[in-house]
Amino acid sequence: MKKSSPVSRSGRFASGPGADVAQFTESISFDWRLWRHDIMGSIAHATMLQKIGVLTKGELQAIAKGLEAIGQEIQDGRFEWKPELEDVHMNIEAELTKRVPAGAKLHTARSRNDQVALDMRLWLRDEIVELAEELRGLQRALVSLGEKNAEVIIPGYTHLQRAQPVYFAHHLLAYVEMVERDHQRLTDCFQRVNVCPLGSGAIAGSTLALDREFVAKELGFVDAKGKAVVTQNSMDGVSDRDFAVEFCSAAALTAVHLSRLAEDVILWASSEFNFIKIADAYTTGSSLMPQKKNPDVAELTRGKTGRVVGNLMSLLMLLKGLPMTYNRDLQEDKERVFDTADTVRASVRLMAAMLENTSVNAKACAAAASDPALLATDLADYLVRKGMAFRQAHHAVGAVVALAERVNKPLNQLTLEELKSVDKIFGADALAVFDLKKAMSQRDLIGAPGTKEVRKQLARWRGLLRIEDRR
Ligand code: ARG
Repeated sequence: MKKSSPVSRSGRFASGPGADVAQFTESISFDWRLWRHDIMGSIAHATMLQKIGVLTKGELQAIAKGLEAIGQEIQDGRFEWKPELEDVHMNIEAELTKRVPAGAKLHTARSRNDQVALDMRLWLRDEIVELAEELRGLQRALVSLGEKNAEVIIPGYTHLQRAQPVYFAHHLLAYVEMVERDHQRLTDCFQRVNVCPLGSGAIAGSTLALDREFVAKELGFVDAKGKAVVTQNSMDGVSDRDFAVEFCSAAALTAVHLSRLAEDVILWASSEFNFIKIADAYTTGSSLMPQKKNPDVAELTRGKTGRVVGNLMSLLMLLKGLPMTYNRDLQEDKERVFDTADTVRASVRLMAAMLENTSVNAKACAAAASDPALLATDLADYLVRKGMAFRQAHHAVGAVVALAERVNKPLNQLTLEELKSVDKIFGADALAVFDLKKAMSQRDLIGAPGTKEVRKQLARWRGLLRIEDRR
């Protein structure tokens, strides 16, 4: 039998938990990483306790100094975590109390239930800010790669079949838009994370006259006007993990976006496409086939998305059957949230770095984009301009495509006679449709892949992302 823990179990329990129970229930092996925020929360709580007269100034000072010293030791790797003390909260508080007698007053009107909710919110706030910054880095990498290859045109695909020509930059900017929404979702999620639960106690607050808003302000839980934001129901305050679900959900969608980008990159890097070359540092070789250069960063980004989506599912399942309020099940939220944060951040960072070290094979892109079939729709538009109904025009161009296949010629090499054999409406100007440059200049609707519009969008993003001029 383990010794009973000095912090929470003394009094009620005759003995501590068995070794296997302790191992099953501990969380210190993963929640130690909340230490910085745990200490921050404790200092704010103690500051408030002094303000309302529970602690003397000297006691507060001793507690703050003690906690800071412990923080320094943790940072330096000199702190000894004790598994028998279960979690980060008890480890730090027990050590503090050993050093500072007033440490025994720190937990006044506080429970690990509101403490852990606080720590997770503080921790997530920082993660969100940092992930949001990484997302900006990815957007910058996408815009820069687009700008460096502003003239490059590739086939756009639907059903992974060649559809219509687009600027390579237009394709990349699609991801910039997706990442922008990811950024918005994170920023939005931040608002629900940024609410202070401290003062909820174990479930029912406290009979002591805590100043919840003071603590909230100390910890930066404020709205745009600087007003304290605190949870409004003590039961919800200790059992709510919606903020974690929201983060894991927003991050899962980011991971799905990254996975799609990874898939495009993997295709483009294949010999079949040969559109891009990823720098060696972001690829690996094969242990058997000497010629291989594999896009592992992109593949692992795609692969890790499974984990990140799984983490979201785990959290949802974790919560679905829980009665109010805190239940120990909630301890299971941490590894899922930590893993999502770590995985998505690393994926975003590495995908950005990989894109910064990727070159475009303009020749292969030009060859693929020169396929005149990509402009079959332009030929239908030509007929529409001549007054033909679109459905009819679609049918006529379909017949032109079939004819070209029959006589084994590319579309743009059919003669005027051959075109006229399908429909007399075709004029001598019909073949001009296949001038790719001209075709691209005609796509200038907002959001279209035309020459002017893509340049405009690149410039817009360059400005929004404040990319310094490296051209
Ligand atoms: N380690 C716990 C968790 O992560 C802290 C809260 C424990 N509270 C309790 N009443 N046992 O959820």
